[in-house]
Amino acid sequence: MPRLSFTKTSHPCIRMLSATILPYLDMQIIHSPTQLSEQCRTWRKAGETICLVPTMGYYHAGHEDLMAHGRRLADRLVVSLFVNPTQFGPNEDLAAYPRDPARDAAIAERIGADVLYMPTPGDMYAEDHATWVDVPEMGHQLCGISRPVHFRGVCTVVLKLFNITGADVAVFGEKDWQQQAILRRMVRDLNVPVRIETRATVREKDGLALSSRNVYLTPEEREQAPQIRKALLLAQKLAQAGETSVRRLRESVLVYWAEHLTLGRLDYLSIVDPENLAPLSEITGPALMACAVRMGKARLIDNILLRP
Ligand code: PAF
Repeated sequence: MPRLSFTKTSHPCIRMLSATILPYLDMQIIHSPTQLSEQCRTWRKAGETICLVPTMGYYHAGHEDLMAHGRRLADRLVVSLFVNPTQFGPNEDLAAYPRDPARDAAIAERIGADVLYMPTPGDMYAEDHATWVDVPEMGHQLCGISRPVHFRGVCTVVLKLFNITGADVAVFGEKDWQQQAILRRMVRDLNVPVRIETRATVREKDGLALSSRNVYLTPEEREQAPQIRKALLLAQKLAQAGETSVRRLRESVLVYWAEHLTLGRLDYLSIVDPENLAPLSEITGPALMACAVRMGKARLIDNILLRP
């Protein structure tokens, strides 16, 4: 279990950001979980509903879509911006994760967030934090194979955000299909009174799924990266034409990538039940083809629904 060693106070840059831009924003920037809880309790007492959009920042059009959708779902929109350390493994990109809080704050405000919640690790986790939420059957496969602590960190932080805000509804992206499936299971199993909504993946014109991590790609890798999606679309066509064998569908993608994705290294490519993520050998109903591919410093994920 990783030791948590976070400072109790916010990072000086974040405090400075608040001091600099706060006076110009209609949106509140809140760092303290207690203050956010109080604000949300006041809204709920007044009969207002709350939508939460959890993010790790460095916003692109996919985040904007989640926020804009969230804005329509409830009276109040809370956007959280927190690069959650507990969902990163020891050799992952926590330190390098791209950040631009001032730009993010301007975007969240433009879209109409009432609050941008920007805690530090010390605001979110006590030094001796010891409670974890895990959904091992669903979290220790697909992305969980190479990122063993990832979904435990996601579930723990998202449940904390649900508890702090008491949100009625929360919005997640379908690019992280496994994440939203696991969170739905967590909410069901633990009777968390929140509704989860998902939004379709937003893509570049050439099909590459938008991701904050796309900035890690070199120009050559960026040029090849859309081949990830192209191969998934090929499998979708084969499934529509009647192919039901998971082995053959996987093979078609791997053969395509061997030729067109020479800068990529396969992490995994799996076909699973879209709801419980159980592996399939034959497609008899909607099935999720999900993959992760490493390209240089980036680890890119994508998925597609196959319908026979
Ligand atoms: O999808 C993400 O950006 C993160 O996993 C989330 C849901 C904000 C939790 O840290």
